[in-house]
Amino acid sequence: MTRRLYIETLGCQMNALDSELVTSELLERGYTLVHSPRAADVILFNTCSVRQHAEDKVYSALGRLKHVKERSPRKIVGVLGCMAQKDGQSILKRAPHVDLVVGPGQLGRLAELLDAVAAGAGPRIEISPPRANSTRAEAKAAFASFDPPRATAARPAAHQAMVRILLGCDKFCTYCIVPSVRGPEQSRPPAEIEAEVRHLAQQALQCGVCLEVTLLGQTVNSYRHREPGRTWRLADLLARLHPIEGLTRLKFVTNHPHHVTDDLLAAVRDLPKVSPYLHVPAQSGADAVLARMKRGYTSGQYREMLDRIRATVPGAAVTSDFIVGFCGETENDFERTMDLARDARFKNSFIFKYSPRPGTPAAQWDDDVPEPVKRRRNNDLLALQNAIGEEDNRRCVGQTVEILVEGPSKMARTPASPGEPIQLVGRTTCDRIVVFDGPPERIGQLAHVKIENASALTLFGRETDT
Ligand code: 5AD
Ligand code: SF4
Repeated sequence: MTRRLYIETLGCQMNALDSELVTSELLERGYTLVHSPRAADVILFNTCSVRQHAEDKVYSALGRLKHVKERSPRKIVGVLGCMAQKDGQSILKRAPHVDLVVGPGQLGRLAELLDAVAAGAGPRIEISPPRANSTRAEAKAAFASFDPPRATAARPAAHQAMVRILLGCDKFCTYCIVPSVRGPEQSRPPAEIEAEVRHLAQQALQCGVCLEVTLLGQTVNSYRHREPGRTWRLADLLARLHPIEGLTRLKFVTNHPHHVTDDLLAAVRDLPKVSPYLHVPAQSGADAVLARMKRGYTSGQYREMLDRIRATVPGAAVTSDFIVGFCGETENDFERTMDLARDARFKNSFIFKYSPRPGTPAAQWDDDVPEPVKRRRNNDLLALQNAIGEEDNRRCVGQTVEILVEGPSKMARTPASPGEPIQLVGRTTCDRIVVFDGPPERIGQLAHVKIENASALTLFGRETDT
């Protein structure tokens, strides 16, 4: 019997990749993909725990499914990912119609668990034992890598792929749930990564498209794989992947400031396929806050790192994340964050209001910045970032940029007749978003676009020949 699968994904790119891999594996086993929970036999939510808001969204979605499940009790509802690992059994207490809870370290068993639930064995909860109670070796085994071969049909596009190089996180920033839900840092062997990228490049060549690969890790630049006689770091891995035929662009996210080494910057400078784009979250510009966050650097050290980036890779786009309203953040602390954002001129920043995460050290401290103050700081920092983004984007007006065309833009309408241009979106190697009108056949190809207009996050232009 074919089972119809619906999967909804929240959270980061790591989760998007897990969903792609889960889908790929289930399609291989004869499932088909549908686009609404009502049409599905199996409904999966791949969840995020990084902020309360992400969790609330899942509980609302589960709430809406209650009636669907009452009417069709044979439908299987599953909660996967970070929230599954964090909340385990208590998900069933809040949403008793859930049949399956599977943590990120147990995704390799999902297909078998779905079969068991379909055979009447539910509900099933499969999560890794808490990291705090395990030795490092036990924790590594408990958070197993899930990187099955992927079917072309499950990939959102042949011209873009995410490849995991590093699992988990060992940084233990005091606000962050990731180290407990994603387990200890584990670098995948370079040979395995190379084989995966070669396979993706082969698929892209067969489809006649370019390939952009984004290497993923929670702290991607702490990648470290020991082999007899040598240790592989991210810079070495980039050099190893670079010559692969069919690979057009290589990116990597997310970086930790501590591991932005001179070697890594030299690799970004010297390897033309590697995008001069570095997402290196600062989180705050105030030393007292950075110390409480246990980030391991001061604002001055972060600025020195920025100077090194600018000196080695002039023109590189640097982006950041910020948390505003962390425990004890004063107005003066927040002003230091504004100073950093003003001086750094990030291409873009993702700004979040601090959300206490039970189980983290900071959750035991007073969440003492009132919500309206968090909101105001968020808005102020966003307004500053937008003004900088727009100013810098405006400098691109008149220039011709090379982009990889990703697909139809969000505003694209279905063409009235075949061959008619539609609104397309692509990105420069510096990760700037470019919107232009062109034929759908451009998707997956490089194009040159002359920029005519700009907003804080988007460039608008017209395709040219060179
Ligand atoms: N509250 C708010 N934002 C958070 N982030 C991580 N944990 C929290 C939290 N508890 C943000 C950080 C991180 C991004 C992925 O999410 O800025 O870089
Ligand atoms: Fe969310 Fe972090 Fe899990 Fe990604 S790793 S889904 S950001 S909690």
